[in-house]
Amino acid sequence: MAIEIVPIREEHIEGFRAALDTVAREKRYLAFLEAPPLDSTRQFVSGALAGKFIQHVALDAGQVVGWCDVIPRERDTMRHAGVLGIGILPEHRNRGLGERLIRSVIEASRARSLVRIALHVRTDNARAIRLYERLGFRHEGLYRRDLKIDGIYYDSLAMALMLDEPSGPRA
Ligand SMILES: CC(C)(COP(=O)(O)OP(=O)(O)OC[C@H]1O[C@@H](n2cnc3c(N)ncnc32)[C@H](O)[C@@H]1OP(=O)(O)O)[C@@H](O)C(=O)NCCC(=O)NCCS
Repeated sequence: MAIEIVPIREEHIEGFRAALDTVAREKRYLAFLEAPPLDSTRQFVSGALAGKFIQHVALDAGQVVGWCDVIPRERDTMRHAGVLGIGILPEHRNRGLGERLIRSVIEASRARSLVRIALHVRTDNARAIRLYERLGFRHEGLYRRDLKIDGIYYDSLAMALMLDEPSGPRA
């Protein structure tokens, strides 16, 4: 059965938390080392359900296998910009699902008139960097020692996509 991408719904919250927990515990990709407790996750997702931010999930036979969110900045001066987060369960990677998820939230971001989508990505996450570059994200700078995991520092790249520029994602 084909994997579908849909805006998150109430019944996906536990699956989203489980997927986030799996990816976080890999310790290679995210700033989280484990998922927040279910109550906090529910509270977080309630923001998406209320339309405050964009969160889409990838479903394989109804099970959450990936997510992507874009959270608009809160201040009046920054509301045109959102911050992107994404994760896919290991067995579903490298099959184009990341591209589908990001394209889906880009479309939703355009519909909300966002003009900037920004993110941080660890410099050793070559797969994610390649995907972001291919979708039109540009490098904006380096955050040195951005993360410390098990005593080791990791640098992150700042990347961003302008939705109102021709350099945006290729069709
Ligand atoms: C990063 C992630 C979202 C990408 O999604 P995906 O479905 O695996 O990616 P896609 O299949 O759409 O595209 C991956 C691209 O990276 C390339 N790639 C795969 N492994 C790579 C590697 N080790 N080095 C460089 N490029 C790599 C693929 O060839 C593909 O590019 P191409 O289509 O131009 O050939 C997914 O792998 C993931 O969830 N990883 C763990 C969590 C994570 O890294 N989150 C992002 C934190 S900033």
